[in-house]
Amino acid sequence: MSEKTVEIDVENERGETQEQDETRDGAGGNETTREEVAVETRNLNVWYGEDRAIRDINMKVPEKKVTALIGPSGCGKSTFLRCINRMNDQIDGARVEGEVLFHGKNVYDDDVDPVALRRRIGMVFQKPNPFPKSIRDNVAYGLKIQGKTDSLDERVETALRQAALWDEVSDQLDGSGLDLSGGQQQRLCIARAIAPDPEVILMDEPASALDPVATSKIEDLIDDLSRDYTVVIVTHNMQQAARISDKTAVFLTGGELVEFGDTEKIFENPESQKVEDYITGKFG
Ligand SMILES: Nc1ncnc2c1ncn2[C@@H]1O[C@H](COP(=O)(O)OP(=O)(O)OP(=O)(O)O)[C@@H](O)[C@H]1O
Ligand SMILES: [Mg+2]
Repeated sequence: MSEKTVEIDVENERGETQEQDETRDGAGGNETTREEVAVETRNLNVWYGEDRAIRDINMKVPEKKVTALIGPSGCGKSTFLRCINRMNDQIDGARVEGEVLFHGKNVYDDDVDPVALRRRIGMVFQKPNPFPKSIRDNVAYGLKIQGKTDSLDERVETALRQAALWDEVSDQLDGSGLDLSGGQQQRLCIARAIAPDPEVILMDEPASALDPVATSKIEDLIDDLSRDYTVVIVTHNMQQAARISDKTAVFLTGGELVEFGDTEKIFENPESQKVEDYITGKFG
């Protein structure tokens, strides 16, 4: 497919910081905090041919927090996630309507280069997909494309450390990424995603194919990453969503966002009966 080559510097849009007021009922009464918004969707709809996969999604994803997307199979979680960095562009027949604002700029504007966008909004998939290259070259891949080739070894090491993989691979950086275990491959993909220093990391069920030990490493890693990055993660594992996320978005069949809010509230006292039924396992 052809992608436009105009590179827009979304950083120029930073003057327009988006913020949201949030009122929390703390023990000491109402307490208002301001949260920076990393990504905001407005009336976002996606069709595959005639079928609408997600409906009028309005969501403000907070910066440097973990937002979990949960809901039954087929409710549009992956579709929504892919909208954020325009990965749906690559799917034949997919049509996106509405807006995805990143620093106030709609990423679907004609002058946005999706490749440049994906450097700032990286992605990790369900199935680890290292390139058939050395561990070093996997991590250095995005850096080389960006021309960030000074102190490459250091940058590779930093990303591998951030991804909690360095200690396991530091003596085999020239070995193939494909020779690692599944859990190591997933952390390698995370290192590859964070090496170019994105602001947002999208993760589509990154731990669903991993054993409990590898899963717990990924969960710890997500917790660490949220200090520096905005993380949006799809998971089918409710306990995982409850453990690792600050905000939870519940999608239900038909592609509707039924409820979005603080994770604790969603799991302990949701507004919607449908959400309560889903979370308690009555359906879905
Ligand atoms: N490439 C595609 N072409 C056509 N329809 C698609 C495509 N991808 C997804 N869909 C449809 O869009 C709807 C939402 O799918 P999506 O993959 O976003 O759901 P999901 O919530 O991620 O499901 P799961 O939990 O099973 O991964 C489904 O009805 C699905 O069949
Ligand atoms: Mg999915």
